[in-house]
Amino acid sequence: MNHEALLAELTLEEKIDLCHAQDKFSVAPIPRLGIESLVTSDGPNGIREEQAADEWRGLGREEDKATYLPAETVLAATWNAELCKLQGQVLAEEALYRGKDVVLAPGINIIRTPLGGRNFEYISEDPYLTAAIAVPYILGIQENDVAACVKHYALNNQETNRGEVNIEVSRRALYEIYLKGFKAAVKDADVACVMGAYNCYRNQHCCHNQHLVNDVLKGELGFQGVFMSDWAGTKDTREALYNGLDLEMGSERGSHRNDHMADALLELVRSNPNLTPLVDDKVRRSLRLHDRLHKGSALRKKGSFNTPEHQHVAYTVAAEGIIMLKNDDLLPIKDSTAHILVTGPNADLHQSNGGGSSAIAAFYEITPLKGIQNRFPNATIEYIDSQDIIQLEISARKADWVIYCGGLNHDLGFDCENEDKANMKLPSNQDLEISTVLSSNPNTVVLMTCGSPVEMPWISQARAVLWTGYAGMEFGNALADILLGVVNPSGKLTYTLPRHLEDHPSTRYGGYSFENNIYKDDIFVGYRGYDRDHIDPLFCFGHGLHYGSVDYQALVCQQDEAGIQATFRLTNTGSQPIKETAQLYIGHPGYIADRPPRELKAFSKVLLLPGESKEVSLHIPMEELDIYDEREGCFRFYDGDYQIFVGASSRDLPLSTILNIASR
Ligand code: GLC
Repeated sequence: MNHEALLAELTLEEKIDLCHAQDKFSVAPIPRLGIESLVTSDGPNGIREEQAADEWRGLGREEDKATYLPAETVLAATWNAELCKLQGQVLAEEALYRGKDVVLAPGINIIRTPLGGRNFEYISEDPYLTAAIAVPYILGIQENDVAACVKHYALNNQETNRGEVNIEVSRRALYEIYLKGFKAAVKDADVACVMGAYNCYRNQHCCHNQHLVNDVLKGELGFQGVFMSDWAGTKDTREALYNGLDLEMGSERGSHRNDHMADALLELVRSNPNLTPLVDDKVRRSLRLHDRLHKGSALRKKGSFNTPEHQHVAYTVAAEGIIMLKNDDLLPIKDSTAHILVTGPNADLHQSNGGGSSAIAAFYEITPLKGIQNRFPNATIEYIDSQDIIQLEISARKADWVIYCGGLNHDLGFDCENEDKANMKLPSNQDLEISTVLSSNPNTVVLMTCGSPVEMPWISQARAVLWTGYAGMEFGNALADILLGVVNPSGKLTYTLPRHLEDHPSTRYGGYSFENNIYKDDIFVGYRGYDRDHIDPLFCFGHGLHYGSVDYQALVCQQDEAGIQATFRLTNTGSQPIKETAQLYIGHPGYIADRPPRELKAFSKVLLLPGESKEVSLHIPMEELDIYDEREGCFRFYDGDYQIFVGASSRDLPLSTILNIASR
């Protein structure tokens, strides 16, 4: 029966039952009409272990141990759309196997402040890159009969007081920066579900926000899917009814009969039958979702769990998502029989089971120490706890190599849901420990595992620094292969690494508070702010080194009927294969005031064999050049001379040209 016919058969009570949860992660079935329960599951890094029916308590079942995939900042650091789609496909296959219909991912909120507690779960400070990573990820999930649920709509860029903080932001920053990823999810990936954010915008909760949901998401963007609340993010029955909330999830008011969209909504509509069409629209969206997922059909795909293929995806994403920030003629390690000291708080720390809702009961987890032990079978691997500084210095002096594994972790107050970081300092005594090993052994490699930026006061002493987020179950093996040179690192930063928190636009311009937060950095988020104010970050957006080098030559740009065509040539001048992510940035005509000097508008990751040259062609659609006009309240194009830059990062742009572009 099609969903319109089903809708006509449903009683009002049954319709209301389809508008709220029956337990922590599912919606009640309507057996009378063959409507199955809709089942959701976290999260971005893998399918979460089964929780008790209606409480935050994992069941600890062996059969729930899932493929622990790299967090989104690692996936994004690959700048590889194919890998994003593959990660989405793994999530879908494991969701199907576990009987889940909706994966509550990807999280795509902009990494606006280095202090954000959930930065590790997101993609970038740049909206273009956020969209470019999210779209293939969503397609990878949804091409396999599972719904993606892009989150958190919108402006959920901090964790402290996330449930009540009100965000004030200009219209142009809202549209150019914070909504761009959601627009792409709807328009380019036809995302099946969107999850509302906990915070407020215009002093109205985002889970039932008239402007964001009805006017923008469902109006301007034409979203036809299911808009659900974040867990316990629903605050008001009337607002939920009128302002576009289709499904209330996670409310904790005792029985789910007490949910805002349960008995209270039933009573409201019973006494005002003219409100029924509002309920019908919500139910129609859910029934359309059931159809889309082939729920109840023999055609629906079956899924798979913890396959070697899934584990290989985890490895490949980690290998391409690790970023080499520095390498002063030190890596790779050529002597595989060396005495290697492995130390630091993250050397053998399991990260899979932390961070909040994205936690995973991992099938296994290869830590840096385990990976080095796996890949250096003929070396002498010594592991010591780094806290004993005296012992650390003695051991570091004796070893041929030191691998210091530090960074952050998923403890509350670091890279974890519900609370932001207090500062950008490394936890515990790491700065002293790192300085100690750096001064004790010139062959020291520092590995930073961080979901957000940290200050690195010892950076000038370090010859080799690797940077990554929480890189999943195969992290240690991928890391060791990079140390060995078996893998040529190709990761690039998706957010700026500041020297100090004070340098960051969100700090300099102001707008980080827990009550009413005014985004005074406006559109100058991340590198946009650094470039505009000529401030040098520690490491810039888009930065990442290889073993070897790449030449950029011969940029030619022209306007065609659909946009801008840019071609250039890359040459691998090194002795190893290289995967280079060439980035293209565009600066608007100088007569337009108050614009960033340049913004990312295209990129391509290219495999180059030693000595190989390749011509790269990028196309930028005209609408990518539109900017939001606050007065007109719309996007528009401005004729004039545009600057076009191409290079290996936002600050390494060897090619540039001026192109006069006119509207067609
Ligand atoms: C959490 C998170 C959301 C998650 C949901 C279910 O509070 O904000 O990302 O999917 O609840 O666990």
